[in-house]
Amino acid sequence: MKNIAILCSGGDVSGMNAALKRFVEYALTNSLTPYMIYNGYEGLIDNKIDPAGYSDVSGIISIGGTKIRTSRSKRFREARYRRIAIENLKAREITGLVILGGDGSFKGMQKLSDEYEALHIMGIPSTIDNDIAGTEYCLGVDTALNTIRYAIDAIRDTASSFGRAFVIEVMGRECGYLALVSALTSGAEMCLIPEIKYDLSLYRDNLMKQKEEGREYFIAVVSEALKNSEETAQWFENELGVESRVTVLGHIQRGGTPTVNDRLMAFHFVTHAIDALIRKEASAVVCYSDNGFRLKKIEEVAFKTYRINEDLLKLGMEFNTK
Ligand code: F6P
Repeated sequence: MKNIAILCSGGDVSGMNAALKRFVEYALTNSLTPYMIYNGYEGLIDNKIDPAGYSDVSGIISIGGTKIRTSRSKRFREARYRRIAIENLKAREITGLVILGGDGSFKGMQKLSDEYEALHIMGIPSTIDNDIAGTEYCLGVDTALNTIRYAIDAIRDTASSFGRAFVIEVMGRECGYLALVSALTSGAEMCLIPEIKYDLSLYRDNLMKQKEEGREYFIAVVSEALKNSEETAQWFENELGVESRVTVLGHIQRGGTPTVNDRLMAFHFVTHAIDALIRKEASAVVCYSDNGFRLKKIEEVAFKTYRINEDLLKLGMEFNTK
């Protein structure tokens, strides 16, 4: 192994820049030449691949997003474009590749690995959604959760001042992880996610009782997957007689200074990825599970459905039984 490259694919997360920094510095420490691929798989096709040095990654650890940009590439799904990508890697004698992305990106990675056997690829789960099977943690999740916590704390100030109900819609695609953890850790009164069945008549009885006992405002955290934020706000007006507002947090959840945890996780993920490339391990995804980092086959990760941890789900179920 002489030349290795890194790319980011799919939704960006805070912590990707920390990963880039570790990638370049740890590669150089191990006498490898690091390359950066710009614009994700799109840049791999378009030959946007440059060698990188210390100056390319200095001063980026505290910045969200990704310096080398990202994309959701449609072209990479087509074999003819992947052939071009492979030629671009061969021209630079790149035989090791690190991919930061989600399960969509890992499906592309599987194809690339099947079609270019000499290439060793290590995936690093990176998505704020935390919805990748086989890993308990994806890079960027802690920063997103802290951004949401900050937003909900701020919304609580105005909710309590006016005596309103706020329905706060959070990202996560089809997965309710972000919504569930945010609802629990911000003391919300309601949490609606696809993984937990809920009964609004039960909520009505419980929240009405709280209102009668003096509760003046309500915080509801709702997963974007349910597409029912407006409807839920209307429910607060109709069923509880409380003025309500909807706040869709949106892309603010994807940016911002990475937390200490995400910086550290970026370092660990990349270190394990490069060590595996040096050992010439078969292409895999570096997962965090059972308190440690382990390599898992791409098909075990990209083609399986993530399930939220049972203990968390149990806590989430209490929202509807209080
Ligand atoms: O997968 C990350 C994510 O932020 C999801 O939570 C969200 O549904 C989606 O990406 C938004 O995608 P885009 O940035 O393309 O609008």
